[in-house]
Amino acid sequence: MSAPAETTAELAYPKPAPTERSIHPLLVERYSPHAFTDEPVPEAVLERLLAAARWAPSSFNEQPWRFVVAHRERDPDAHAAIVDVLAEGNQAWASQAPVLVLTVTKQTFSFNGEPNAHARHDVGLAAAQLTVQATAEGIGVHQMAGFDAEAARQRFGIPESFEPVTAIALGYPAGPDELGDELAERAAGPRERRPLDEIVHRSADEPVPFGE
Ligand SMILES: Cc1cc2nc3c(=O)[nH]c(=O)nc-3n(C[C@H](O)[C@H](O)[C@H](O)COP(=O)(O)O)c2cc1C
Repeated sequence: MSAPAETTAELAYPKPAPTERSIHPLLVERYSPHAFTDEPVPEAVLERLLAAARWAPSSFNEQPWRFVVAHRERDPDAHAAIVDVLAEGNQAWASQAPVLVLTVTKQTFSFNGEPNAHARHDVGLAAAQLTVQATAEGIGVHQMAGFDAEAARQRFGIPESFEPVTAIALGYPAGPDELGDELAERAAGPRERRPLDEIVHRSADEPVPFGE
């Protein structure tokens, strides 16, 4: 297999992961921006991000993901409606993003009507693929749990058999200059992860390290 291309568009405000192992540059570059420029995301680029999500694997190939996409340029009302359902702390920065998305899952399998226990897992995979494609396109993606799922359900007519899972802000990342002090401090904070030894169990002879 050939090495993956390392040609990635410049992110305006890079915050590379300080990883000690060599992982793909797209994964090193990806971060969750708190500031976006006004530059609209071209329709064709947005379509590619959604196509990347579409090609994610899923349990029984159910593809339980659905995306409510609000492009501020094309549909300012839908964009405002998603801003409305975001938690206040997220509204402060995410309202700037030219594109807002709600991710939604279908909660049952289409082929037998049984509950799909992995629907959230699968929409997370689709979001990950969208995020990697976005990084390659120079676009920043910031996912959010902080939104009112019930309000989103009402506003967008999402039936009970579907579940709103996350909101996503995306656009071309800007520097943190225009953020208030608190957000600028958060945005400038270090990239941190648990050590591999804490999250990986390698030997059947050792107790599984499921600490706090
Ligand atoms: C499912 C999910 C929900 C998140 N919810 C929020 C949120 O509501 N507000 C926020 O500012 N960031 C949110 N984040 C971003 C995380 O805080 C961020 O991914 C984490 O701190 C690691 O930073 P990085 O993405 O820059 O590596 C969320 C991320 C995920 C994947």
